[in-house]
Amino acid sequence: MENDIKEVMFTKEKIHGKVKQLGEAITKDYNTGDEIVVIGVLKGANVFLSDLIREIAMPVYLDFMAVSSYGLSTESSGTVRILKDLDLEIENKHVLIVEDIVDTGLTLKYLTDNLKSRNIASLKICTLLDKPFRRKCDLDIDYVGFEIPDEFIVGYGIDFAEKYRNLPYIATLKKEVYN
Ligand code: IMP
Ligand code: MG
Repeated sequence: MENDIKEVMFTKEKIHGKVKQLGEAITKDYNTGDEIVVIGVLKGANVFLSDLIREIAMPVYLDFMAVSSYGLSTESSGTVRILKDLDLEIENKHVLIVEDIVDTGLTLKYLTDNLKSRNIASLKICTLLDKPFRRKCDLDIDYVGFEIPDEFIVGYGIDFAEKYRNLPYIATLKKEVYN
């Protein structure tokens, strides 16, 4: 697995520091007494979300959604489909969507429009990584861990063709691996 890595972009320590900062910012921004429903976008956001919720010092409810994205390619198709919907009732709840990467933004655009139509109290987005130069739609992101250039990355929950999710760091892949 390590042989496929071109360069480590963010070490385990660097990621941990950022996750702690994000958790503190989120805790600070909500009001005392608020409860939030944290929605993880499967599967990529799972590792980040697991670390993040332990840095949030307020009541958190946890749920997941699965949407179709890249399949086995490295480019977003633009068509989004909900493969798994929420288990919890979110009406009148504060909702925080947690994502691994925002790239074109089409996935989250679709998800946020969908969730906003369900009479929720508020909606915020937290993503660990953002590729702002790739955006194809308007999207307000409330919390961004790191902005990154237009490079394909893996690790810390993020895959290429379902591989590399268990790498503890975030890294670029050698071109020959995905070409
Ligand atoms: P978007 O709809 O183009 O914003 O796609 C977002 C989703 O694409 C993310 O949640 C990731 O699952 C996936 N994605 C985007 N960039 C990368 C990358 O560099 N490596 C792995 N997956 C990525
Ligand atoms: Mg994702």
